[in-house]
Amino acid sequence: MALDRPNDLSAFWMPFTANRQFKQAPRMLVGADRMHYRTADGRDVLDGTAGLWCCNAGHNRPRIVEAIQKQAAELDYAPAFQMGHPKAFELATKVRDMAPEPFEHVFFTNSGSESVDTALKIALAYHRAKGEGQRTRLIGRERGYHGVNFGGISVGGIVNNRKFFGSLLTGVDHLPHTHLPDKNAMTRGQPEHGAELADELERICTLHGAETIAAVIVEPMAGSTGVLLPPKGYLERLREITKKHGILLIFDEVITGFGRLGSSFAAEHFGVMPDLITCAKGLTNGVIPMGAVLATSEIHDAFMTGPEHMIELFHGYTYSGNPIACAAGLATLDTYAEEGLFERAADMAPYWEDALHSLKDCPHVIDIRNMGLIGAVELEPIPGEPTKRAFDAFVKAYEKGIMIRTTGDIIAMSPPLIIEKDHIDTLIGTLRDVLEEID
Ligand SMILES: Cc1ncc(COP(=O)(O)O)c(C=O)c1O
Repeated sequence: MALDRPNDLSAFWMPFTANRQFKQAPRMLVGADRMHYRTADGRDVLDGTAGLWCCNAGHNRPRIVEAIQKQAAELDYAPAFQMGHPKAFELATKVRDMAPEPFEHVFFTNSGSESVDTALKIALAYHRAKGEGQRTRLIGRERGYHGVNFGGISVGGIVNNRKFFGSLLTGVDHLPHTHLPDKNAMTRGQPEHGAELADELERICTLHGAETIAAVIVEPMAGSTGVLLPPKGYLERLREITKKHGILLIFDEVITGFGRLGSSFAAEHFGVMPDLITCAKGLTNGVIPMGAVLATSEIHDAFMTGPEHMIELFHGYTYSGNPIACAAGLATLDTYAEEGLFERAADMAPYWEDALHSLKDCPHVIDIRNMGLIGAVELEPIPGEPTKRAFDAFVKAYEKGIMIRTTGDIIAMSPPLIIEKDHIDTLIGTLRDVLEEID
């Protein structure tokens, strides 16, 4: 149906967007293929961000498109509660098989935010099932991003995502963030300094009583806050302390899951196994909303008690394991495997790292960080106008044909894993021009 008022942009209240700025000068995308978006004014824009960190196999991948089309005609929807359909079981098995060994069970959600709130709820209910119902506290980290639902913003640590929304969950505390620019600026890969920041968890345990803490949730590599890598030894230390105190460790892998760092999950990449993993985004290549929580058998089995006709976990969504999302997920994971995209990301990472760090002499640049196929360029803020410089860079970059993302005064990039070296040259070369042109 045609719009009554064809060019009316007023009805759509856009998420995480400067609505008034956008509507004056819209950046409208109308198509996408592999590494490029197509704009309404007919330009190709190189995707330096895999959409929103999610289109890991690039755009318009035939296998995924066909799977969705076929599934829509075969079984469009099946009730998610007390009923099943084969593809949900097939996808859960596939995710399990590609996850690190202890993760035997998969609970489907529709987004990263839902995965996070699901994992927090599973952690609380697990302790209760084990007779430790006093473990109700949840620990997050400053600058952490865990989506936008109440659980996620409570444990999250991005101030603007929290401060407008009341008192949030009670019983939450936060670890300090790990950004130490004085010591770690311009590090390639994991920084040397900061492992000791994990010891703050001991202080929090002493303060509240470790036996009251249910879970610690962190992004193994913090993405949305501007790509903060874990200092060497930091995740290991968190794992040690949580284990010692019987606290569950949750890795939020909504960005790092499905190849971003060159392996299926960051847990495998860093060799540190949490108790729960949240994921979304790359699970379906971003094409259909879907997320998941991966649980160990120890956690899952703690729920499998009581009369067999009883529901074990009172949680789920109308669209948990939606058939079309499952079809998209299966086709996505097949595409990753067939094209060896995770290995490709690992192979391309050194070239990506060199290209990114070649920007260190550009105006305004105060730090560059990278790992796998992810990278950030941090800019000196304009005095009195934080975020403006990076936003100007984002707008100019789009005009020049590259898509980047900004958060604060940090430019973040996470291209599709199908990126070629000449795309990297174009992306970084154009970004250099942008940085030289902005004030
Ligand atoms: C680590 C992390 N957790 C959760 C989310 C929220 O995901 P969604 O936007 O799908 O709700 C994101 C989104 O970027 C994320 O990066």
